[in-house]
Amino acid sequence: MSGEGQQARHVAIIMDGNGRWAKRKHLPRVMGHRKGVEAVRELVRSLKDTNIECLTLYAFSSENWKRPEEEIDDLMNLMRKFIKSDLPEFIANDVKLHILGDWQSLAPDIVEMLEDALAQTAGGSRTLAVALNYGSQAEIAQAARAAASEGEITAEAIDRHLYSAPLPPLDLLIRTSGEVRLSNFLLWQAAYAEMLFLDVLWPDFTPDHLKSALMKFGERERRFGGR
Ligand code: IPE
Ligand code: IPE
Ligand code: MG
Repeated sequence: MSGEGQQARHVAIIMDGNGRWAKRKHLPRVMGHRKGVEAVRELVRSLKDTNIECLTLYAFSSENWKRPEEEIDDLMNLMRKFIKSDLPEFIANDVKLHILGDWQSLAPDIVEMLEDALAQTAGGSRTLAVALNYGSQAEIAQAARAAASEGEITAEAIDRHLYSAPLPPLDLLIRTSGEVRLSNFLLWQAAYAEMLFLDVLWPDFTPDHLKSALMKFGERERRFGGR
């Protein structure tokens, strides 16, 4: 299959490098996270100029609980602020929120805000999927358990029980910050995704970086095991 000009329906991003961005500027880590939220905002705004149906963002991993309490508090507070400030814009821009991960065990006020945001954006046509308290291995284990309880552990049955079940197949996975690893993100879903590892730190990521990633994706030849 020729890859010329193909369009990505589903793009996922491991938003990494906030800490290093702040360190380089001799700023506290939280400033890197704040600037990272601004990058998210601009990116979501730019979605309407692309053909992407679903953008999935890795915001907080189940392993990020290992960080100092102060940083976790900063991240949770930024999340609260972001939902409050940007929900009206999501609704106005036809963005539908989806969440991957064990988000129901976050702080009760965050759970309540997220439930409200999910309900208010349910009619949107373009999906913003956010991975919150997400770990791919636990996701697969949970899906396998659910599939087993229904009688057969097949790949299709597992697929149906993943957090990503309602989303289109993953086409492109991007990681910023220069690290070349998946850090327990979408291990199953990435089976045939194209990958792009960028040297830019997340707070410096702009809609133009996304556009250039989509161009690169358009030139990739995907084979899915065929020839
Ligand atoms: C990504 O930036 C944000 C989260 C993981 C929440 P980091 O905080 O991991 O930044 P680096 O990797 O230390 O630079
Ligand atoms: C992955 O980044 C998680 C998110 C971007 C939310 P990390 O910074 O947590 O990953 P590692 O620890 O470098 O692998
Ligand atoms: Mg990191």
